[in-house]
Amino acid sequence: MPLDEAPQNGYMDVPSGKLAAVVTYLEMRTFPEPLHDEADGASEFQLRHVARPELEWYRSLYRAVGENWLWSSRLAKDDADLLAIVRHPAVDVHALTHKGRDRGILELDRRRFPEIELAFFGVAPELVGRGAGRFLIGRAVELARSFKPDRFWLHTCTLDHPKAIGFYRQAGFTAYRRAVQILDDPRVAGYLPRTAGPQVPIL
Ligand SMILES: CC(C)(COP(=O)(O)OP(=O)(O)OC[C@H]1O[C@@H](n2cnc3c(N)ncnc32)[C@H](O)[C@@H]1OP(=O)(O)O)[C@@H](O)C(=O)NCCC(=O)NCCS
Repeated sequence: MPLDEAPQNGYMDVPSGKLAAVVTYLEMRTFPEPLHDEADGASEFQLRHVARPELEWYRSLYRAVGENWLWSSRLAKDDADLLAIVRHPAVDVHALTHKGRDRGILELDRRRFPEIELAFFGVAPELVGRGAGRFLIGRAVELARSFKPDRFWLHTCTLDHPKAIGFYRQAGFTAYRRAVQILDDPRVAGYLPRTAGPQVPIL
């Protein structure tokens, strides 16, 4: 609803079967120097560019990273729509690899260049807080910078990990916009099991 039609303050009921989230947009217009500790090749994490992602692989990794946080936008897409995105020449899908397994995702969307969007970013739950995120955001910034964009941006919401905004600000992003999002609860819609994201009750 446009702001001029919405009440400025107050509460608005969210229908059952829907979720509400506050979305924060963050951007980077000047790029920080690379982190030296990421460049020494000794990291327990690696980045792997997946040039032609298979749908089963992509959906499985997306769920491994995002199920706890109720990520669903990519699960709601049919095969043709999803392939058109993840195999688009201006969409770069990378996996973070740990002990030989793909446990994190970094997806850059350059379709609206000279802007680049960090479209999906995160690590599997067992790696949260263990330096994988820091490794991955360093790589994301380096990759984006190599294309010389006007800006590099992302959005995160209150369904995501509670440290996500602080993490992105620490990495050099600045918040510039906020929105309220209403969306289908993916557990009710059938994209995720009803046990996913227990921190957000199903209503
Ligand atoms: C958000 C997320 C990526 C953070 O990753 P993480 O693994 O918890 O973070 P790490 O342990 O690697 O690093 C965190 C630390 O590095 C710091 N850091 C991150 N990038 C940095 C940078 N470029 N320079 C300096 N410090 C940095 C952080 O501020 C934080 O500092 P702390 O140790 O004092 O807490 C992770 O929680 C996650 O994947 N969550 C699930 C999915 C999600 O919510 N994604 C984000 C929404 S799109």
